[in-house]
Amino acid sequence: MYVCLEGIDGSGKSTQVKLLEKWLSRCGHEVLRVFEPTNSKVGNLIREMLQDPHATDENFQKTLGLLFAADRMVLMDKIRDAEGEGRIVLSDRCFYSSMAYQNDAEWLSQINRFARKPDLVLLLDLDPETALSRCEGKDSFEDVDFLKEIRDKYLELAKKEEFFVINANNGINKVHDDIKRVTGRKLGMCI
Ligand code: TYD
Repeated sequence: MYVCLEGIDGSGKSTQVKLLEKWLSRCGHEVLRVFEPTNSKVGNLIREMLQDPHATDENFQKTLGLLFAADRMVLMDKIRDAEGEGRIVLSDRCFYSSMAYQNDAEWLSQINRFARKPDLVLLLDLDPETALSRCEGKDSFEDVDFLKEIRDKYLELAKKEEFFVINANNGINKVHDDIKRVTGRKLGMCI
């Protein structure tokens, strides 16, 4: 089972992925936690490039789209192996981040053709102003107008691809409870 948490920068994904990992482990599941961009060489190059003030420009985004797809490929073998060992894979972002942040859905689907789609996607939804106030101002995507567009794209994707939308403005514990409920149900756990 491959579970992914998605959302704009500052929506609390990394905190919630870690809490979910702890909970699932306490319940006796073997878990592999991963994140995108990864810490591969490509992932590190991406992080460096995200600091460029032109990172939201169209052509720059195309380059990033290709790099994110390449970085994701590195992860696919790990995910397959972990699933083969019966582990639950929890991911902070996946292919859908590219669909939300980079443009041209058809092209993105082609270059991500080998990326496995998660079995469950939870979208942490939050207004960009609040999300930005939680960010550390570390990369060029942390801009309120840009994040507004990304949020809209996520909400569109959520309808089309049947994501579970979680209100990420409810405080850490309530958000964690909501995530547990949806994930537990998908895994057939009694909670
Ligand atoms: P983020 O989750 O903020 O990672 P970290 O906390 O390690 O910095 O992701 C970095 C940025 O990358 C974020 O602004 C979203 C962006 N991104 C894309 O634009 N496309 C993608 O496919 C992925 C995976 C991330």
